[in-house]
Amino acid sequence: MAAEVIYGKTLSENLRQEMKEQVEKLKQHGVTPGLTVIIIGNDPASISYVRGKQRASDVVGIDSKLIEMDNTTSQSELLELIKKLNNDPKTHGILVQLPLPDHIDEQVIIEAIHPTKDVDGFHPINIGKMMTGKETFFPCTPYGIITMLKSKNIQIEGKHAVVVGRSNIVGKPVGQLLLNENATVTYIHSKTKNFRHFTKQADILVVAVGKEHFISGEDIKAGAVVIDVGINRNAEGKLTGDVEFESAKEKASYITPVPKGVGPMTITMLLHNTIKSAQAGLK
Ligand code: GUN
Repeated sequence: MAAEVIYGKTLSENLRQEMKEQVEKLKQHGVTPGLTVIIIGNDPASISYVRGKQRASDVVGIDSKLIEMDNTTSQSELLELIKKLNNDPKTHGILVQLPLPDHIDEQVIIEAIHPTKDVDGFHPINIGKMMTGKETFFPCTPYGIITMLKSKNIQIEGKHAVVVGRSNIVGKPVGQLLLNENATVTYIHSKTKNFRHFTKQADILVVAVGKEHFISGEDIKAGAVVIDVGINRNAEGKLTGDVEFESAKEKASYITPVPKGVGPMTITMLLHNTIKSAQAGLK
């Protein structure tokens, strides 16, 4: 039987509707959630992502600002700007779009953002809280994935979750969030030997490697839940995932598409984190 497709786009539309109401309530208390997105350079993919983030913020009523800086911006200029935003009471969330140019140390920038404004959930303090099971800002893509699973009442506890990829943005934190939900987690990566041995054992398979059609129906167990985090552009310029959708769909119980799957959820969770930050300021 073909899998049920989990559309992050539809779920996002519903969640963003609720967020509009939350923002309205905050405004009644005199607070407008504020998000500042900083982008350095002119990478077309990054520009397209940040514009999507801005559009979505506007729709739910978040006051979003986009600061575009050119490729020659120095690390100290960027740090100066972050310092200003850390001290600005109208800015509840700060997001520096990654990757950064080589002359800027990404980790220094991530650590400069005040943890209470780190709506990406990348600051070591927030990662530490996540690892110890505390409430904090969770990284947006992993948090979006957990939200998608929960929206379909998919059981996580006791399941074997296999995460393909170990990036700081997706692979590592999604494994941690699945562990927090009592899954048994296996990470596989470019140095894993015989990785298909592991993918075939997954009850929940999260694929985040950035390689078109890296996983196909042959690599998964019948009834698996397949989450495709890939956003690749193929030779015809079409967006494709890391999973070969048609063959995987025939074997899985649930599957996320690309586009309209995980991508919209990343932005939705960013909005969620920004609103949460603004609400925390009221307490
Ligand atoms: N680049 C790709 N994904 C992300 C993300 O979630 N946050 C930031 N800041 N940069 C990214």
